[in-house]
Amino acid sequence: MDIYSGVAELRAALRNCGRIVFVPTMGNLHAGHISLMTQARAHGDTVVASIFVNRLQFGPNEDFDKYPRTFQADCDKLAAAGVDVLFAPTETDLYPEPQEYTVEPPAIQHMLDGEFRPGHFRGVATVVLKLFNIVQPQVALFGKKDYQQLMVIRNMTRQLALPINIVGGETVRAEDGLALSSRNGYLSVAERAEAPRLHRLLSRIRDALRAGDTRYAELERMAVAELDQAGWKTDYVAVRQQSDLNPPSGARQALAVLAASRLGNTRLIDNIEV
Ligand code: PAF
Repeated sequence: MDIYSGVAELRAALRNCGRIVFVPTMGNLHAGHISLMTQARAHGDTVVASIFVNRLQFGPNEDFDKYPRTFQADCDKLAAAGVDVLFAPTETDLYPEPQEYTVEPPAIQHMLDGEFRPGHFRGVATVVLKLFNIVQPQVALFGKKDYQQLMVIRNMTRQLALPINIVGGETVRAEDGLALSSRNGYLSVAERAEAPRLHRLLSRIRDALRAGDTRYAELERMAVAELDQAGWKTDYVAVRQQSDLNPPSGARQALAVLAASRLGNTRLIDNIEV
């Protein structure tokens, strides 16, 4: 695997590389990331991963400084997964001057996670567009665990007519159902044992919806109450339309249930399609 930090060197290395498939990450890679890398191989000739902890998408009181940085272990995993090229820019490589031009997503950036992380999706969309411009992939893969992020990126790609096929990868879970996430490493032993409750609750709501229950607000309210009873601090549990993440507007809409809740100091997100 070849590793580049400079934009010019990466661009030169990617000339004549055929169809480029790109998997952007913030590192601290787990089996969810590696599954995207493995799937990437089927979509083109050269698999490019990136590792960059993007300050723009973190709020002032969020975990940018303590976000786990495990570069050497990540490189070993990427090489073992058959990744051809790793782009690992420093902050000065990617933001040599203050990033004053940004991507401002529409209303979707203010709902669900956006309500609790103001500016987050602006930061994500901006860095992803910049990475797309640098890597110029034909295909890019993102995990469905960050469901709203995937939608923001799909919509941005379509509306800005970027010639990139966006592929969503299924969430990879631990045996007890907890969605794999770099932030799971923050959990204490007791919190780790409690954490699968989130997926169990989402699965229960999915089953109720499949059985025809349409009491969306009541299902959401019961889930928040159960989490809070068990010591979580919940930002939202929401039944939404898969198409635009708005609340269900009528019959025969494909739905998803999304949640974000804090266990101790760790904010976990998860979702399930119905
Ligand atoms: O999902 C992530 O790891 C990040 O949000 C991304 C897409 C790499 C942008 O920084």
